[in-house]
Amino acid sequence: MMSNKKTFQVDYEIIEEFNNLPNELQELIQKTIDVLPRAYAPYSNFHVSAGLLLSNDEILVNVNQENIAFPVGICAERAVLSMIDGLHDFNKTKIKALVIAFEKQGNVSKGPEFISPCGMCRQAILEYEFRNEAVFPIFMLHQHFNSAIKVSSIRSLLPFSFDRM
Ligand code: THU
Repeated sequence: MMSNKKTFQVDYEIIEEFNNLPNELQELIQKTIDVLPRAYAPYSNFHVSAGLLLSNDEILVNVNQENIAFPVGICAERAVLSMIDGLHDFNKTKIKALVIAFEKQGNVSKGPEFISPCGMCRQAILEYEFRNEAVFPIFMLHQHFNSAIKVSSIRSLLPFSFDRM
């Protein structure tokens, strides 16, 4: 009897070093790392930053911003994505890449080696990919900032997404 079991396959790449990347991506990575100290994360001590490279070569960066009422806080990814519309006509400016970095502060001992966006941010990133009318790669940095996991589209991180009809 034929089985109805199916499997999703996720393609991703480990970027072992950044020297071979195009200069604009190296700059995006550096600026995303540099903004980490501005994260406002007194409740989790988990600092996150996100950077966007735009088609006009502009780089936008932002950080997570927490709140005493925890759900009110915003992740770095949605914080940076929400900057685009105020600054650009999104019909003309496209996203070329997204970088995410993190740093554990103080007594946070456990945690991931690589940052990976939360479920809500994945759905938010997908909406920007719709609007972008082109996929863009996501670089999820290692905690030591010396390597990254690269996916070529948010779709690699969001199987069975709630999608456009
Ligand atoms: N956070 C982000 O900003 N981005 C992620 O990809 C994962 C989690 C934030 C939310 C919260 O401020 C802190 O990290 C700990 O969860």
